[in-house]
Amino acid sequence: MSTAASIIAELERLSGEFAALIAPLADEQAIRAAQAQFLGKKGQVSTVMKELGRLPPAERPVVGEAVNRIKGAIEHTVAAKLADLVARARAADLARVVDVTLPGRPHGGGHLHLLTQVRLEAIDIFAELGFAVAEGPQVETDWHTFEALAIPKDHPARDMQDTFYVTDDVVLRTHTSPVQIRTMQAQRPPIRIVAPGVVYRRDDDPTHSPMFTQIEGLAVDVDLKFSDLKGVLLHFVRRFFRRDLDVRFRPSYFPFVEPGAEVDMQCSFCGGSGALPTGPCRVCKTTGWVEIGGSGMVDPDVFAHVGVDSERYTGFAFGMGLERMAMLRHGVNDIKFYYEGDLRFLQMF
Ligand code: PHE
Repeated sequence: MSTAASIIAELERLSGEFAALIAPLADEQAIRAAQAQFLGKKGQVSTVMKELGRLPPAERPVVGEAVNRIKGAIEHTVAAKLADLVARARAADLARVVDVTLPGRPHGGGHLHLLTQVRLEAIDIFAELGFAVAEGPQVETDWHTFEALAIPKDHPARDMQDTFYVTDDVVLRTHTSPVQIRTMQAQRPPIRIVAPGVVYRRDDDPTHSPMFTQIEGLAVDVDLKFSDLKGVLLHFVRRFFRRDLDVRFRPSYFPFVEPGAEVDMQCSFCGGSGALPTGPCRVCKTTGWVEIGGSGMVDPDVFAHVGVDSERYTGFAFGMGLERMAMLRHGVNDIKFYYEGDLRFLQMF
């Protein structure tokens, strides 16, 4: 049978036990666990307190007072112990030798990929002329890619743009020209858009990649003439290369334009002379001209496919390779450099 004296003795013993347990502890979690083991609802002190109820009422106050004292002592020990931990951590921090005069560690800043820079710049230049940006899917229907552009299934022009067929009627687009179709389906003239984007072809050599980037242009309005097309491309080339280079048009065939022309510009390497101080210019193969894209006046057949009145409206279109543009301006000599992610290349631009 417990007496007040035996309960108090037990509490004193627990208090000593707690002090011994906590003394070597050096992390907060362990200290809190020890505290719970003694003071928690099912803790050892609580267990002893249950005896309290069985004492004669007259003896309870003495024991109650002892319980409070011991609880207080335990809480005090815990608080002191935790404060000590914080102080030690701070002291350790302060003791660490920090040399604030050491130079900083530079973090290399990132930047946009050359192709992205060139794409955004091209968009800006065309925006100055009132062209908005339009986009279309890279996985495109055969109809938008070929049929609507007057390239039916048996047309020999398909050979030049062999591609990856997803199904018989769905392809990876071989050019950005399907965006012409989507734009004319979605809005009425006047239209002025440029469509930059990735295209795919079965090509693979130092100047051709199975995936590359084009920028398409389309303008449809009353009275648009071939000279408008020339003016737009001349403006573009001069702004993009920041030089008074000339542009020329060679008659060529694209089923969706009539007349059609291949666009050449004066070689940005030799300035059109065909020769460099070091010898013949290899970029233009000494001709002084380099091809940059295709162009022409929108064929009435194309207008018919999208319901534009070809009696009332005329239009011009062009398509250029952005890798080629960047190559010519920055002297990149293998198209693969754009896609390899080699930092030595990326950091040059
Ligand atoms: N889509 C053609 C190509 O990729 C280029 C082009 C665009 C030609 C617009 C004429 C008009 O080869």
